[in-house]
Amino acid sequence: MGSNLEERFQTLHEIVRAARANLAPGAWDYLVGGAETETTLKRNRLALDSLAFRPRVLRDVSRLDCTTTFLGRPLRIPVVLAPIGSIETFTEGGGATAARAAAEFGVAQMLSSVCAPGLEAVATAADTFRLFQLYVRGDDAFVDDHVRRAVDHGYAAVCLTVDTAVYSRRERDLARRFVKPWRVRATGHDFQAALSWDQVKRFKDTHDVPLILKGIATAEDAALACAHGVDVVYVSNHGGRQLDHGRGTLDVLPEVVAAVAGRARIIVDGGVLRGTDVVKALARGADLVGVGRLECLGLAAAGAPGLVRALELLEAEIRVCLGLLGVDRLGALDASYLHAAPPVTPPHATSAFPLLDLDGY
Ligand code: FNR
Repeated sequence: MGSNLEERFQTLHEIVRAARANLAPGAWDYLVGGAETETTLKRNRLALDSLAFRPRVLRDVSRLDCTTTFLGRPLRIPVVLAPIGSIETFTEGGGATAARAAAEFGVAQMLSSVCAPGLEAVATAADTFRLFQLYVRGDDAFVDDHVRRAVDHGYAAVCLTVDTAVYSRRERDLARRFVKPWRVRATGHDFQAALSWDQVKRFKDTHDVPLILKGIATAEDAALACAHGVDVVYVSNHGGRQLDHGRGTLDVLPEVVAAVAGRARIIVDGGVLRGTDVVKALARGADLVGVGRLECLGLAAAGAPGLVRALELLEAEIRVCLGLLGVDRLGALDASYLHAAPPVTPPHATSAFPLLDLDGY
C-alpha cells in the first residue's frame, strides 16, 4: 500500500473513528441508519453474531489463499463494494474514488446509478472489475439505454435492485431534515414501483449481459429468479434501510442457497464489517460478500487510500480467521465450520466495533 495509513489505521476500529470525526451528523446518520425502528438493520448483525465457529486443528495452513473468482474475474478477497447512492456525500469524487480504491486493492465495484459522477466518468477513472446497479426511473427505452451504456463502458453485469419498490421511512434522515442529493434530482419513481417479473423476462430476452437481482430475501423469489435465467441472486435487505422487521440476511441465506441449487451465483450483504463476517457468509454458501457501510467508512476516513486500508485490514482478518479455522482456501469452507450460539453484544449500528465509544451510533 502506497500511503502512510498502515501506521495510522491498525484496526478497523480506527477507521470507523476517523470516519465519524470527518462526517457531519446528517451524513453520519444517513450512513449508519436504517428504516423506522432499525430492527432489520440490527437483525443483520444479530444473524452474524449468532453464529460461532467450529475450528479444526492440526491442518497445514502455512499457505493461505483468500482469493476467488467471480464471473470469470479474479478477486483478491471475496468482496464487492456494494452500490451506494450519493456516495459523493462521503468522499470527493464519489464513485470514481471508490473505483480507484477497488482497482488498487483488487475487489469488484458495483456502481449505483444514483451517484456522482456517472457511469462513464467512473469507467474512465480506473480499470476495475465493475458492475452497474440500475434504479429504473423510466420506460423500457430508459433501461435499454442504461444497459447499453454500461456494457459499452466495460461493466461486466447489470444489477436491478428490487427491494425498493417504495422508498422507506428513514427516521434518522427525517429527524435531521437530511436530503440526499439524488432524491432532489430523482423523478420517475413510479417505474421502480411498477416493476414485475415481466421486466426481468424482457431484460433476459433483450440483453445478453449477466443480470443480477439485488434484494432477494426468500427462497420463493430466488427460485423465480433462477426460472427467469437470472445469473446472480443478491441476498440483501438494503442494509436494513428498506423494509423494517425483516430477517437478518445470514438467516435468509440458507434457504436461498437451497432454492438456487447451483443455478446462479450468490452474493449476500448486510452488516458485514469484519473478516469473520465474510468467512461466515461464505461458509453459509455465498460466493461473494457485499460491503456497503464499510466501503463508505473507509472513504470517509481517508478517501481512496482509506478504503484500500479498510480492505487490507478486512483481508488480514479473513486470513487470521481462515488459518485458525484450519482452512487454507475459501472453497473449502462449508456449514460444518459454523454452530449456532447466543450473541454476546446487543446489536446496533457500530456493535461490530466494541472498542469504540460512540454510544451505539
Ligand atoms: C445503500 N444501498 C444501496 N443499494 C442499492 O442497490 N442502490 C443504492 O443506490 C444504494 N444506496 C445506498 C446508500 C447508502 C448510504 C447505504 C449505506 C446503502 C444498499 C447497499 O448497496 C447494501 O445493500 C447495504 O449497504 C449492505 O449493508 P451494509 O454492508 O451497509 O450493512
